[in-house]
Amino acid sequence: MVDMDTLVSLCKRRGFVFQSSEIYGGLGSSWDYGPLGVELRRNIRNLWWRDVVHLRRDVVGLEAAILMHPRVWQASGHVERFTDPMVDCRACKRRFRADHVDAQPWTHYCPAKKENKFEVPAGEPCKHCGARRTLCPECGKGELTEPRQFNLMLKTFLGPVEDEAAVTYLRPETAQGMFVNFENVLQATRRKLPFGIAQVGRSFRNEITPGNFIFRTREFEQMELEFFVNPQDTVEGQPADEYWHESWIQERFAWYQRYGIRAENIRLREHGKDELAHYAKRCVDVEYQFAIGWSELEGIANRTDYDLRRHAEVSGKTLTYFDEERKVHVVPYVIEPAAGVDRSLLAFLTDAYHAEEVRGEKRVVLRFHPELAPVKIAVLPLLKKRDEIVARAWAIRDELARRWVTVYDDTAAIGRLYRRQDEVGTPYCVTVDVQTVGDPAKGEAGDGRVTVRDRDSMEQIRVPIERLAPVFERLLGGGPWSAVAADYPRQSSA
Ligand code: GAP
Repeated sequence: MVDMDTLVSLCKRRGFVFQSSEIYGGLGSSWDYGPLGVELRRNIRNLWWRDVVHLRRDVVGLEAAILMHPRVWQASGHVERFTDPMVDCRACKRRFRADHVDAQPWTHYCPAKKENKFEVPAGEPCKHCGARRTLCPECGKGELTEPRQFNLMLKTFLGPVEDEAAVTYLRPETAQGMFVNFENVLQATRRKLPFGIAQVGRSFRNEITPGNFIFRTREFEQMELEFFVNPQDTVEGQPADEYWHESWIQERFAWYQRYGIRAENIRLREHGKDELAHYAKRCVDVEYQFAIGWSELEGIANRTDYDLRRHAEVSGKTLTYFDEERKVHVVPYVIEPAAGVDRSLLAFLTDAYHAEEVRGEKRVVLRFHPELAPVKIAVLPLLKKRDEIVARAWAIRDELARRWVTVYDDTAAIGRLYRRQDEVGTPYCVTVDVQTVGDPAKGEAGDGRVTVRDRDSMEQIRVPIERLAPVFERLLGGGPWSAVAADYPRQSSA
């Protein structure tokens, strides 16, 4: 498993992720996505949208505003309950999550012993005097305050006057946009239950202990689906909400594996009763084995009718569905698969990373699924001083770029160019050489063929230029390399 430092360094060097505001010393836990990162993010979002919205008959999309009426957050419970217990250091003024402080080992000067300096293990009191950690884990000197509840929403003010009447919040989840628009979408689309509303967008949380690169940040992007079901229905002998919850758990678990996450690095974890959110009947996390250990990648909750009921109560509007068969108004239950773009990106990157030895040299390769790869094809001229080769390579790049993300690179020798593309996960390279264009000075005609190289096997085939588009259609459409390569002559690899 690749460690986090190696990933962070690769991401910066190759233009996936940069520290935000780096020239000013950086802003803690804020990250910018560079030229390759931005493509990878788009691919993740697009695949999610295609599979969760476009390919289904029962889901529609929405894009709600980030700023919402402040009463939304009262109704949702975020003002009252979206809190973490915090302790402050009286000396250095740093703030920590109370449960995190207790989860670290600490140095204790015990009043009950002569040789009194001890390392006390995480989560335990001193075995001599029974004291719990009371000193700051950072400066080691200041006393910690009693835990206080700290709200995680980022507050802001609307309009020119910064008073209580102008307070609102940057949304901490995209979900509420779907709940408050339930009636609008129902009216506009005339949907029958069950149906879902999906949204991709930025969310903000004033996380106290952000970190681990893009795993936990204060600004992040979510991909959320609110799937509304009739709680009076049964499907295959089960209550409809329970049936659909299980179905979405399996679908989302399979989704990550469909795009390359290896089975041994992903698992489902059922929430215990004591950790369920106040609105949830049941919740299952999809967890990934990140470099920091097994952690949540996506949560799939059965939110019952909590949200629609709360918004109906606080807004005074009716948020129900008319069940034509039973002639009753029902408040739908909600199944919510809630994923993060940034966390998915970290998981896909971690899983794709491979370091191997090839002919005595280290090769780093990101084995991205072709649909995730930021660049699909790199066109490389073998000799950058031969005008005909360069012109032909550019022409091929421009033609392929109409359909797939295709780059041109001539800034190094061919072996190095291949390694660079391997390191960013480009599945295929096309090389234009002397044989392609011939040598007019010697009266030699070119064969009009180029070399196509496969990232994973490093095998190469010779393909006529006019066959490139159909070849990539097959390869990038999911066709195996071995089947496509069988139709063309092999070339010994570089
Ligand atoms: N609407 C439910 C909800 O927001 P969540 O488990 O708090 O549930 C869903 O968030 C997903 O959003 C997480 O599984 C994670 O992928 C992503 N996420 C949440 N907080 C994040 C943070 N601070 N930084 C990056 N991603 C985050």
